[in-house]
Amino acid sequence: MSQYKGIILAGGTGSRLHPITLGVSKQLLPVYDKPLIYYPLSVLMLSGINEILIITTEQDLASFKNLLGDGSQFGVSIAYTIQPQPKGIPEAFILAEDFIGNDNCCLILGDNLFYGQYFTDKLKKAMDRDNGATVFCHHVTDPERFGVVSLDNKRQVVSIEEKPSKPISNYAVTGIYFCDKQAVEYAKGLKPSSRGELEITDVLKCYLDNGQLSAEILGRGFAWLDTGTHDSLIKAGQFVQTIEARQGLKIACLEEIAYRNNWISLSQLEAQYQLFKHASYGEYLMKIISEES
Ligand code: DAU
Repeated sequence: MSQYKGIILAGGTGSRLHPITLGVSKQLLPVYDKPLIYYPLSVLMLSGINEILIITTEQDLASFKNLLGDGSQFGVSIAYTIQPQPKGIPEAFILAEDFIGNDNCCLILGDNLFYGQYFTDKLKKAMDRDNGATVFCHHVTDPERFGVVSLDNKRQVVSIEEKPSKPISNYAVTGIYFCDKQAVEYAKGLKPSSRGELEITDVLKCYLDNGQLSAEILGRGFAWLDTGTHDSLIKAGQFVQTIEARQGLKIACLEEIAYRNNWISLSQLEAQYQLFKHASYGEYLMKIISEES
């Protein structure tokens, strides 16, 4: 399996959440008991990716660093870079060129929340492909709001389009993309779309034209949640609250994932508990510590 680096794109203006996001980054807003960025970060960690670059705005950089630091408390390494203007998702590949080097990468949007059984298996399947790109698709009622793929009866991608007015299918492309390093050159060759942005679907079209685009379907039992509006943000929080209350297990507890990956020791877990012991997050860490000691 190739080496993968992780990139979280956490910039943008969050204009659909104004006035909240005038003072705080969208990806730092709470989704129930933890900041939104914990969720995409957990996906990278579940994939086994421990070298991560966070791309954010100049204004928000200090807040992300305060929250996540160098990542060592989660057994990962986190670097940061600034996207001066939100010129489009593919700019992440260009900004991350040196970070990616000769490796493959997983780009995840900082506002996407995934939850479902066997997700880790699907992520690992995508990472087993050394060349090309893999997208994850999910059936939605409103495909016109997303990148949309059409698939043939062997589930091969036939076409991909950004926010089509007449979607050819109900399969939306979610905000997680596994790519080989060609993504950097493909991104550099793009021109802005009619809405003035570089489009991720144009990068994916380059892979498709070379017969190198694969799709994994996230089935009915899977939740892919949007956090783009006030309503969807609160619904995402309610979803996390419901699952966590029912199961007594947390979604996206970074220390738990790090510990189970053998990336941090029990004493590092205890140190994190000391930081959070007045919050339910800390109580959860204590539960894990008690089970393990
Ligand atoms: O969520 C999945 C969808 O994400 C895909 O289906 C679409 O193909 C893809 O284009 C994207 O669509 P959105 O309309 O959701 O993209 P948006 O412009 O909202 O950007 C998604 C996140 O990325 C958002 O949290 C802000 C961040 N971002 C976006 C751009 C364009 C940046 O940090 N920098 C940027 O330049």
